Amino acid sequence: MFKGKTVILGVTGGIAVYKAVELLRLLVKAGAQVHVIMTKAACEFVTPLTFQTLSGNPVHTELFNLITEQEIGHISLADRADLCIIAPATANVIGKLANGIADDLLTTTMMATKAPVLIAPAMNVNMYENSIYQENEARLQRHGYLFAAPVSGFLACGWEGKGKLQEPALILEEAARALTPQDMAGLSVLVTAGPTREAIDPVRYISNHSSGKMGYAIARAARLRGAAVTLVSGPSALTPPVGVELVEVESAAQMLAAVLERSAGADIIVKAAAVADYRVAEPAGQKMKKKSDELQLSLVKNADILAELGRLKGKGQVLVGFAAETENLQANAALKLAAKNLDMIVANDVSAAGAGFNVDTNIVRILWRDGRCEELPLLTKEMIASGILDRVLLFRASGS
Ligand code: CTP
Repeated sequence: MFKGKTVILGVTGGIAVYKAVELLRLLVKAGAQVHVIMTKAACEFVTPLTFQTLSGNPVHTELFNLITEQEIGHISLADRADLCIIAPATANVIGKLANGIADDLLTTTMMATKAPVLIAPAMNVNMYENSIYQENEARLQRHGYLFAAPVSGFLACGWEGKGKLQEPALILEEAARALTPQDMAGLSVLVTAGPTREAIDPVRYISNHSSGKMGYAIARAARLRGAAVTLVSGPSALTPPVGVELVEVESAAQMLAAVLERSAGADIIVKAAAVADYRVAEPAGQKMKKKSDELQLSLVKNADILAELGRLKGKGQVLVGFAAETENLQANAALKLAAKNLDMIVANDVSAAGAGFNVDTNIVRILWRDGRCEELPLLTKEMIASGILDRVLLFRASGS
């Protein structure tokens, strides 16, 4: 996403400047070409040399640098940018931008650029809550400026409250979103992910090897493309994607309830969860003791959540299922597609190398309701996630 992109990182004066160093490192690691502009005040906190060394590019501080600039500095930087980020952004720089003041290299460049501008404020809580600041922020938002909201915590000034610079990793995620075409804006997407756990007794359960990686990748990709995303997830060790509504569940019954509560309003539902087909008929109330040499568990069938969604499917709603198979991939997936009234099914042979549970890659075949079938090569789950969403959007556009 950042490969080949030119990012201008504007750094203004505040104690959080050290976190901008970390953000720069993350941007460079992600493949961006970063040009740093520092205000005079920022140079009081960290020297330009730090940013210059990490970015591999000269740091810009002067509006008029007659010795090194052949072009008009602020205009050439502004034109080159795919994205501008100001982190940390003081109340002062936000006030200037909101009121069209361009009196240094950073504010001049920000006014001259056509690239999206992402602002990560950091300031004292009382400054942040000041109505003048809030008006300035709202004004910039109305003009299309993006914000990575500050978080609450202990502030360097001694106060506690909202005003701490957002974590660099989260600013990076917002930057990724700013660089992504918002072709899913206005759409509501419901994704399920991970395994379910069916209790045997208070300490044991039946589950499967699903890690949640595929579903989490789909939820993240949809959110980066502008959708409002709800992720209903079984137990997973993964960090939830930024900006999605996470609903944590354990059992298939809980997943069914959570999904049905939210399905009616969804434009697109992607059911990537590996739902347990059976649950223990009567889970023990206390830990079971190992009294006999053999133990028989009686299992009863869980509701098929996806089939239920297929029955309830609203007009224009796109329903995508997954099929985890170890044999007869295409035939079995086609049967599920028809039986569950899906628009599309993503079939994967979970026994193939590089595919299925707990790995970062997958090999999938996509089957449509009209009989089309497409085989994708071995790809990362991120790439498969975008591939699935691309096809869902095409399917919606075709009005099928
Ligand atoms: N699914 C579901 N609820 C279930 C079982 C499966 O919603 N109780 C969904 C899965 O999320 C997936 C699709 O149905 O999108 C297919 O799941 P899969 O495990 O491949 O197949 P099953 O329908 O369970 O059939 P079988 O186990 O016989 O292969």
